[in-house]
Amino acid sequence: MIQKEQVIDALRKVTDPEIGKDLVTLNMIGDIAIEGSHVAVTIKLTVAGCPMKKTMEQDVKRAVGSLEGVEQVTVNFGEMTPEEKNRLAASLKQGSQNKAEAFKDVNVIAVGSGKGGVGKSTLAVNLAVALQQEGVNTGILDADILGFSVSTLLGIQDKRPVALDSQTILPIQVNGLKALSMGNLIKSDQALIWRAPVIRSVLDQFFYNVRWGDLDYLVIDLPPGTGDVPLTVMQQLPKAQLLLVTTPQSAAAKVSVRLGNMAKQMNIKTLGVVENMSYFQCPECERKYYIFGKGQSEKIAADLNVELLAQIPLNIEIRENSDAGTPIALQQDNPAASHYHELAQKIIKQLS
Ligand SMILES: Nc1ncnc2c1ncn2[C@@H]1O[C@H](COP(=O)(O)OP(=O)(O)OP(=O)(O)O)[C@@H](O)[C@H]1O
Ligand SMILES: [Mg+2]
Repeated sequence: MIQKEQVIDALRKVTDPEIGKDLVTLNMIGDIAIEGSHVAVTIKLTVAGCPMKKTMEQDVKRAVGSLEGVEQVTVNFGEMTPEEKNRLAASLKQGSQNKAEAFKDVNVIAVGSGKGGVGKSTLAVNLAVALQQEGVNTGILDADILGFSVSTLLGIQDKRPVALDSQTILPIQVNGLKALSMGNLIKSDQALIWRAPVIRSVLDQFFYNVRWGDLDYLVIDLPPGTGDVPLTVMQQLPKAQLLLVTTPQSAAAKVSVRLGNMAKQMNIKTLGVVENMSYFQCPECERKYYIFGKGQSEKIAADLNVELLAQIPLNIEIRENSDAGTPIALQQDNPAASHYHELAQKIIKQLS
């Protein structure tokens, strides 16, 4: 005879993929009905249309089905009552209320540049994907509130985050990576006409009201330059490290030093420099063409006393996959993806 307690114990091994805690702790178990070798379990979801339903169903079936004597498992879904949701939200807030404690054990990497359009967002997204694939828990936060692009680059522009209440938002999950961008909150063609204080309060919510869970790494995609957003990020997250993206072109290289110097003034460490669009390699003859010049990034890295961590070529597949919302770093055996994986490995080595 199968006991209800055995079923509950089995369900302790199933985690909610969005919150990262087990279903029993989260009070998500509804009715459990046992008839002979058939067990029917009701799971109470935070939102009825939870995108992770299928995964949860499979996990519950596997966990309960592994109990001795169980031959059939049925999973029914219900929705939490508003009171249950409030209780869950309150329990998730515990321990993360203190802002100073929020990212205490997380390696925060802010990806910035002096000039716009050098490929920061492309790098931030591919680096986050590569870090996740290297086996560290990673999140990506799009701090480019007005010029957001991370949601499109990850192909999640149509996904909306689950909000348990106004102060408890769950990030979107894609290939194990946690992500949130303004593009997940508004329509892609909606213009945001916001002044700095409003942008700052959105950033505050992204930092402290989003339940990022147990992250090892948080990659932050900054807007270009030394404006209010990079300043806010550096002030709010004093342990963040700057990853400076530049192109070899002297104009881009020179202005990137400004951001490096800003970080210095703010006591923010610069992790290193990444040169993007370094060269174009002819697919037929293998010859490298240095379209934007050569040598500037080494000089910047030396001036800032940091390492030039990567030189990423101008590559059609990188651009095509970005546009398609399938970051190239997902294709582990693609030569163009190897640049991001090597960078991720270097960073993990440097920071662990
Ligand atoms: N290595 C690369 N090879 C080919 N195309 C690239 C590469 N890196 C970036 N791009 C392309 O360059 C364009 C600009 O890239 P991206 O949006 O990442 O720049 P950004 O620095 O984030 O821009 P912004 O300053 O507007 O935020 C995009 O079309 C992107 O696909
Ligand atoms: Mg960008």
